[in-house]
Amino acid sequence: MTTKITRELFDKVILPVYAPAQFIPVKGQGSRVWDQHGEDYIDFAGGIAVNALGHCHPRLVKALQEQSEKLWHVSNVFTNEPALTLAQKLIDNTFADRVFFANSGAEANEAAFKLARYYATEKYSPYKTKIISFYQSFHGRTFFTVSVGGQAKYSDGFGPKPADIVHVPFNNLDAVKAIIDDHTCAVVLEPVQGEGGLTSATPEFLHGVRELCDQYKALLIFDEVQCGMGRTGSLFTYQQYGITPDILTSAKALGGGFPISAMLTTNEIASVMHPGVHGTTYGGNPLACAVGCEAFDIINSPEVLEGVQQRRAIFIEKLEEINDQFKVFREYRGKGLLLGAELQPQFHDKARDFLNVATEFKVMILNAGTNVLRFTPSLIISENEIQEGMMRFAKAVEKVVNA
Ligand SMILES: Cc1ncc(COP(=O)(O)O)c(C=O)c1O
Repeated sequence: MTTKITRELFDKVILPVYAPAQFIPVKGQGSRVWDQHGEDYIDFAGGIAVNALGHCHPRLVKALQEQSEKLWHVSNVFTNEPALTLAQKLIDNTFADRVFFANSGAEANEAAFKLARYYATEKYSPYKTKIISFYQSFHGRTFFTVSVGGQAKYSDGFGPKPADIVHVPFNNLDAVKAIIDDHTCAVVLEPVQGEGGLTSATPEFLHGVRELCDQYKALLIFDEVQCGMGRTGSLFTYQQYGITPDILTSAKALGGGFPISAMLTTNEIASVMHPGVHGTTYGGNPLACAVGCEAFDIINSPEVLEGVQQRRAIFIEKLEEINDQFKVFREYRGKGLLLGAELQPQFHDKARDFLNVATEFKVMILNAGTNVLRFTPSLIISENEIQEGMMRFAKAVEKVVNA
């Protein structure tokens, strides 16, 4: 007997840690997705900032098909050509000299935090272990990464947390000054806080944190899992600020939808590591890296990167039109196509309602917390797709407002 695959089945067979929409997507092309009944949706969610080139980009499909006929997996007991090629591309286009591949954002961050502690304890002192992080930050769901992340709702309830992690308000340099000391091994931040509500770091804050890290010999770690790989209009967001981190993590758009992540660092910091200190079976998997190489070449082109600001402008123009009618948004946040629309106070706590009703009108959006709607579409979404999606979204807004 074959099981009928329905949304109800999810509630029976999957661990109840998600509450997915009521339809099941079965096919995607560009910024359009179809469900089991052939209904089409405009995708402004992009798989939470993952599908930077939309669904089933022909060049990514070709790269995956070609690699799938050559070599799938060898483990890190052997290296492979796609991993080395992708590492070289990342190095050629960033501050970094060394790359560690993993499979998710959380794993890249786990590696980053372990590296920062290892470097500080090897090089300076076994007591140099303090990690400074920020409220509202998000770095993944492993126990170390939820503990470094600044949202108790993700980290509480699992027993004793890793020690020596402190949280201070984001964009508040005085708060960092007050807590940073010789025992600090790292300051960790997202240049644009994603899950926490699309708050961009101010240039003064980032420059100030960089100086403090230098002064106290602490490493500066940028989590660009969500805001990197073209999403804000440059390959990585730090490149818009005129400073460099010591460690950077990337995931999501790095594989254009195929799971892969990377931690980037310098030769000096990497020099403390040696075989056996850290690792993961699938890191640098040839399939993931082959797709990653193709995604990298497409995203890291003037055409795609310059298109990001143009598309943001169209999104904001359309949101403004909706706002003129319904007065729902207070301000627009984030950078590039990591775009947030903060709701007016009377709609606070209702972000999820907008998201649910949007799916009724066949458009996929996201929230970031309870007060901000989030749009993380394909970086190459067409103007027509934006127009059509926004027409659908306007109807959803009307329904929520009149509910
Ligand atoms: C900034 C940031 N870091 C880390 C993560 C965790 O990535 P993953 O879910 O791939 O483990 C996310 C996911 O949303 C993120 O936005």
